Amino acid sequence: MAENKKMSTAEILAAARAAKAAKSEAVEAAPPADVTDTPAPKAAASKPAGAAGARPSVAEIMALARAKKEAEQGGSPATPADQPAAKPAAAKAPVAKTPADKPAVAKAAAPKSLTRDTASILAAARTGTKPGPVSKADAPARPAAVATPASTVVKAPPAKLSSAPVLPPKPVKPVAKKGADAEQDRRGFLEMALGSFMATGFTALSMTGGLFGLGLARFMFPNVLAEPPSRFKVGFREGFPSGKVETKYVAQYGVWVVNSDVGGQQQIYALKTVCTHLGCTPNWLEAEQKFKCPCHGSGFYKDGVNFEGPAPRPLERYAIRIADDGQLEIDKGRTYHEELGQWADPESYITV
Ligand code: FES
Repeated sequence: MAENKKMSTAEILAAARAAKAAKSEAVEAAPPADVTDTPAPKAAASKPAGAAGARPSVAEIMALARAKKEAEQGGSPATPADQPAAKPAAAKAPVAKTPADKPAVAKAAAPKSLTRDTASILAAARTGTKPGPVSKADAPARPAAVATPASTVVKAPPAKLSSAPVLPPKPVKPVAKKGADAEQDRRGFLEMALGSFMATGFTALSMTGGLFGLGLARFMFPNVLAEPPSRFKVGFREGFPSGKVETKYVAQYGVWVVNSDVGGQQQIYALKTVCTHLGCTPNWLEAEQKFKCPCHGSGFYKDGVNFEGPAPRPLERYAIRIADDGQLEIDKGRTYHEELGQWADPESYITV
């Protein structure tokens, strides 16, 4: 029952120290050279196992562990006094904090066999390897034998092309024509431009010339009323009976042919169909035996003398004669005015 009872930590440690103390005593019984340098007795003497109630320090535990290990290996244990002296020489070298201290520190810390000489440093510099503490004998072989630590190798930066951002492809520039082709294109463009301008100019000029020709032709051939000839024949004398006013030539020639008694003389004469007031064309009123102007009411007798209305004077006569063929021929180129006494002219009438 007591064995099954769980032990406390202090009890375990006390048991361990007791076991170690027993072992150390056994070691002390071994060769004296080894026992005298072992630090365990020192620790055990300073802190016997009987004092199990005292808690060992870390240094003591470490000393016991080293003593145990050395006892198991059978080697000569190093004394605690030797251990601190060996550690700085083997493991820890003084660190040179300043460049000025480097040579002195290196000489003081490094063994003589590891002191670098100038040849080894130069050889290492030539081979590019990190110089290290080599002897003179090893200096020529050092560059080939010593490999550069991986941690000291300076890796080359990655290529810029691999880390460069991928840019979109640039648009392809149109290839400009060179030489004769480009010159030909420029000439073609200029010819086309000049040709179009010239064509437009010539078209406008031709149109202007055409319009000018039309105007000139119009000037040379003005609008002229196609008037009937001034002379025309109206038929034979027998076709105009006495006291008759012929009106069939009014529309075509603008003339009345009248066979009437004028001052006791039977005459055939031609009256102009134009009112002497303002130029209207009067109408022959057979029932009233007068010419009546529809514009302002002027009235004229059969012989053409005005008697009513605003007309200021009698109607005018045209020249009349008997042509070679016996027909009556009227000439509108000549007129005869009664107020001027021209009706007495024998060319202004034909006696019957
Ligand atoms: Fe004939 Fe005036 S035009 S009366």
